[in-house]
Amino acid sequence: MSKILVTSALPYINGVPHLGHMVGCLLPSDTYARFMRMMGNEVLYICGTDEHGTTSEVGALKAGMDVQAYCDMNHARHAKTYKDFNLSFDFFGRTSTEQNKEMTYHIFEQLDKNGFIEEKIIKQVYSIDDKMFLADRYITGTCPYCGYEKARGDQCENCTKVLEPTELLDARSSISGSKNLEVRETKHLFLNLPKIEGELAAWLKTKEPFWPDIAYTIAQKWLKEGLKERCITRDLKWGFPVNKPGYEDKVFYVWFDAPIGYIGITKQWADENPAGRSWKDWWQNPQEVRHVEFMGKDNVPYHSITFPATLLGTRENWTQVDFLKGMSYLTYEGGKFSKSENRGIFAEDAVKEFPADYWRYWLMANAPEGSDSSFSWELFAGAVNKDLNGVLGNFVSRVLKMTSSKLGDKVPEGGTYGPEEEELASVLQKRVNDYIGYMEAMEFRKALAELRAIWVEGNNYISTTEPWTIIKTDAERAGVVLRACINLIRIFAILAAPIMPTIAQSMLDRLGMPLAGLKDFDVKKEMNVLKGGEKFEVGEVLFERITPEKTAELKQKYGSAN
Ligand code: 2FM
Ligand code: ZN
Repeated sequence: MSKILVTSALPYINGVPHLGHMVGCLLPSDTYARFMRMMGNEVLYICGTDEHGTTSEVGALKAGMDVQAYCDMNHARHAKTYKDFNLSFDFFGRTSTEQNKEMTYHIFEQLDKNGFIEEKIIKQVYSIDDKMFLADRYITGTCPYCGYEKARGDQCENCTKVLEPTELLDARSSISGSKNLEVRETKHLFLNLPKIEGELAAWLKTKEPFWPDIAYTIAQKWLKEGLKERCITRDLKWGFPVNKPGYEDKVFYVWFDAPIGYIGITKQWADENPAGRSWKDWWQNPQEVRHVEFMGKDNVPYHSITFPATLLGTRENWTQVDFLKGMSYLTYEGGKFSKSENRGIFAEDAVKEFPADYWRYWLMANAPEGSDSSFSWELFAGAVNKDLNGVLGNFVSRVLKMTSSKLGDKVPEGGTYGPEEEELASVLQKRVNDYIGYMEAMEFRKALAELRAIWVEGNNYISTTEPWTIIKTDAERAGVVLRACINLIRIFAILAAPIMPTIAQSMLDRLGMPLAGLKDFDVKKEMNVLKGGEKFEVGEVLFERITPEKTAELKQKYGSAN
């Protein structure tokens, strides 16, 4: 049994998660955490809200609330949405806690002691109309590298280049739109990334054969361009006050304490129920822990460069990221999700329209791995109707209804499996091995294609063996076929559980069977778990079809891209 630490990028507290966020890190990390638990590993799955920075201050201001109360309210909203999506976090915490403050202070002190912190007077953008220094992300302008006109002062989302706000051309305040900005001098602390560059490059080299292209290429691109010193403090109120004399009126930059938040949240998890829990077992134990991080591609530089460099600079024995799964973007009907423009379906509405598992299946089957992918209502309805309802749901109801009406509500007894079942088990074993291999490698689109192919094998088997015909002449053989099919329902449920946990449970409940593990999954053995005589229930249909009328209505309701 291995210890696997799974982290999902910490969502900004003031953002409303849409399907792109769900598939960008939250669902893949949950699927992987569930899968790894089913493979018999000790998994710790951590996430939480990223709460500091101007975004929260501005959000609270707009809502007419105190920042803490605003964060409390939004944290609860995030937590509910993820619960509705059935995310199986071991702990969903926050970055604004005492535990994270303690961790941030400790890491900063080590960096300072080891000579990685520099003091500099810098020029920062001050908005005269807003009466404040503008945080990087609150300055909009044209990216000097790619010409994108809506680049933010911290990063260009078009070319992923991390920016200094003063580099932007035609800069304006994103709060008021005012161009009445001036550059003022202010004293700040910097993380000396160039000083640790060589060490970081050597560390990254050890990841080369393992990391997916999207993560490794982004990290290499950064290193090739040469690292710059990175400012880690800000002139703001909402954040951790800097624990260094002369900086009492400043706070740490949100991107400094946010990744440390993974550790702070783990400490919160341990503090809230200390029996048998230790944050150090996970974070200061690189020999025993495999750390897998999930995030959108815009987050890759922070997790492959700045955060690893931060930890290296402490000269302490931290668990670093072993595998970084970076995801591209999901678009909505070919365009952008936008809350303000009322376009796209957001996570909290999605689960009001359809059960979470419909979304979990579609999003993971179409995950933007490698390149961007696009959500469309037609594609979604097509997958629900064909894959879920037509292939899986139909198999389950056909088998259980037929058995119940012809042979009663017990798994048929008598007879033994013949060559058809031998052949089925061997075909399925190969596919199951591939499915497990893809899930281990986090190649989710391939894994889900294999899962669907496994369901199709079940349909092929029942179509070729035709139990509804042979029952007229050989009831025992029909019973054998249906017993094999009922065992397949259990197998399909176990395989689908990391992706569709509720549907899987509902399938198992019909058979009165518990969920089982996936380690050393032996199809032949699993096909003999229900031996005959066990009671089952037919139950309701597993999936509702989505009609063309409903699809049109949803398109209307959630807007189309422009
Ligand atoms: O991009 C985002 O949503 C950030 N809030 C992710 C932070 S991840 C971690 F470093 F906290
Ligand atoms: Zn750019």
